Amino acid sequence: MKVEESTENELEQSEMKVEESTENELEQSEMKVEESTENELKQSESSTVMREKKEIYLVWEDVTAVVAKNLGKGATRKLLNRQSGYALPDRIMAIMGPSGSGKSTLLDALAGRLSSNVIMSGNVLLNGKQRKIGNGSISYTTQEDFLFGTLTVKETLTYSAHLRLPSTMTKDEINSVIENTIMKMGLQDCADNKVGNWHLRGLSGGEKRRLSISLEILTQPYVLFLDEPTSGLDSASALFVIHALKNIALDGRIVVCSIHQPSGYIFDLFDDLCLLSSGETIYFGEAKLAVKFFAEAGFPCPTRRNPSDHFLRCINSDFDKMASTLLRSLRDSAVSVPSNFETSFTTEDIKAKLIEKYRSSEYSINTRKKIRQIALINVSSLHSR
Ligand SMILES: Nc1ncnc2c1ncn2[C@@H]1O[C@H](COP(=O)(O)OP(=O)(O)O)[C@@H](O)[C@H]1O
Ligand SMILES: [Mg+2]
Repeated sequence: MKVEESTENELEQSEMKVEESTENELEQSEMKVEESTENELKQSESSTVMREKKEIYLVWEDVTAVVAKNLGKGATRKLLNRQSGYALPDRIMAIMGPSGSGKSTLLDALAGRLSSNVIMSGNVLLNGKQRKIGNGSISYTTQEDFLFGTLTVKETLTYSAHLRLPSTMTKDEINSVIENTIMKMGLQDCADNKVGNWHLRGLSGGEKRRLSISLEILTQPYVLFLDEPTSGLDSASALFVIHALKNIALDGRIVVCSIHQPSGYIFDLFDDLCLLSSGETIYFGEAKLAVKFFAEAGFPCPTRRNPSDHFLRCINSDFDKMASTLLRSLRDSAVSVPSNFETSFTTEDIKAKLIEKYRSSEYSINTRKKIRQIALINVSSLHSR
């Protein structure tokens, strides 16, 4: 089949898959899109200090990540199994799950920064195109803070801004980006404090984390990925960080962060939730509907429990060991054992039930539907240009 024919066929198929739309787009409109995106970037970089807002959509479909054991000889291990989802601007998404469930791996897969020994299949598309970290559209904040202890907050931001913002920007414009960032991340009170290190007292853990995030938002990326932005912080500092991230999202950006076990206050701030266990989707959808899903699956959240505690309690296998030890000691001391699902099911059972339930649920069907819709928006917007 000739290339032209195949392109026409692809155009005729309106119910096209995300994969097909990519090929189509790559063949058809690479120049148009690239040009328009680059023009938008150039315009916004030169005319204003703020990058122009534009509609952005991130979708991923059937993302599987496999790592080969024994240097590729023999068995492989699945780190992620057929993850599908989407992220929209003005919303903040939490990727939650026990340690080792694949949160960082999913973030890496979405940001295109998986280690070389991990093989990924499936699609990750930003506005219908495969994009990699490093082109300015996407930023990634790791769990550790890499900062110079002897610089102040303002100096740190100033150095980074001068290195990373376009040279066409004037000094005043750069300064206003810095001021704006300091304000958005609530760093006004410590702007002139030194970051600090092991022998120089400086910023608190929360302030350091907010400074690390500030460095990433200086360039106004469309998508922010953050790996456990609250790890090691007390609940108030953690809440502050997530509040700041929510404000960034409300500026028309996509914010996706992994988080191990948020407090109830923090959980309420998340718009969307991707709950993982051993690389499988337990739930994907609106955060506030997750409680309903767990109840429908037969594992309702007790009234006074923080939902995120309940979700983790259901899927974290570490609880099994603890529960069996506890039960043994209760039986030994002849105390009657309360009967609820926590004592009558192992987490493996609960996990298997939830995975099965999610796959056939309306939440999973809606996710697929939404992914298709987004793919079609991208295709129609490409053709209308
Ligand atoms: N590059 C890699 N090579 C081998 N195993 C990996 C690699 N990256 C992650 N893993 C494994 O995949 C699992 C999930 O890891 P990760 O995504 O870091 O989990 P989480 O962030 O949820 O704690 C872990 O068991 C980890 O050891
Ligand atoms: Mg991790």
